[in-house]
Amino acid sequence: MKEPKVLQVIENKPIAAGIYSLELYHHALCEEVLPGQFFHIKCGGDKFPLLRRPISLSYTKREKGAVVLIYRVQGQGTEFLSSRRPGDSLDVLGPLGSGFEVNRQYERVAIVGGGIGIAPLVELAGIYGDRAAVFAGYRDETFLLKELQERSADVRAATEDGSFGYGGFVTDLLLQYLKEQRTDMVFACGPKPMLKTVAKICRENSVGCQVSLEERMACGVGACLGCSCAVNERDGSLQYKRVCKDGPVFRAEEVCWDE
Ligand SMILES: Cc1cc2nc3c(=O)[nH]c(=O)nc-3n(C[C@H](O)[C@H](O)[C@H](O)COP(=O)(O)OP(=O)(O)OC[C@H]3O[C@@H](n4cnc5c(N)ncnc54)[C@H](O)[C@@H]3O)c2cc1C
Ligand code: FES
Repeated sequence: MKEPKVLQVIENKPIAAGIYSLELYHHALCEEVLPGQFFHIKCGGDKFPLLRRPISLSYTKREKGAVVLIYRVQGQGTEFLSSRRPGDSLDVLGPLGSGFEVNRQYERVAIVGGGIGIAPLVELAGIYGDRAAVFAGYRDETFLLKELQERSADVRAATEDGSFGYGGFVTDLLLQYLKEQRTDMVFACGPKPMLKTVAKICRENSVGCQVSLEERMACGVGACLGCSCAVNERDGSLQYKRVCKDGPVFRAEEVCWDE
């Protein structure tokens, strides 16, 4: 059983409207954490909000012994996070969850993020480097493009309002790419309708796909079953898995998309 750690805030600054970059110092964590894993953070005083809030690793800064988390302010917990200042402490449990299955033999992968779902993919982009084509989809304002471009030479952006890059859905770019380029694996994180489309495109083009799912969480460590979701077993039966412990990353064909 993991014990919570007290981590020091190095930096916590806005990078786009309502989106913050939080840098936390912990040398050992930085070496241990895998892309796709998350931290369960206490976001308030002793009583409220009672439940920790899950935020994924975005990327590590190994030279500084720091982990960087990117989060969107949604409600009380993330509002509290945004008020933390350098030198403040945070009570953090993790890293938790299974993370993406990284195969260093892959010659070409596609990494697809939508909105705040781009954040958990930055470390993964660094692992595959120029073997990765990175697709970043935004509604309007872009963020994290510089961090992605530092890791991969092939970063393609889409905005729904057409203000930057391709005007339309990021999944259009992925579809075009998979038709032209042999790809060993697609990794995706973002809103469920986007993930569902990514899964369909991969299935139709016979490419493996891993998706990172979100569920409201309580304990975060597999004990309360509060984050259960139905998955398809290989024998066709349905089973419930815990997003926090068995995921948050699942093979796309496991996920019951219409649940
Ligand atoms: C494994 C995992 C990793 C995550 N990683 C990140 C990350 O890297 N960056 C980031 O910005 N967010 C991430 N999230 C989502 C983040 O945990 C929630 O936005 C946060 O818990 C909201 O807390 P709050 O107290 O600010 O808002 P609340 O007051 O709890 O909720 C505000 C609003 O957001 C909705 N909401 C809250 N949590 C979720 C959720 N998990 N899924 C869908 N809707 C939700 C609520 O329904 C409500 O409408 C992740 C979630 C999971 C499960
Ligand atoms: S949040 Fe308790 S089992 Fe996942």
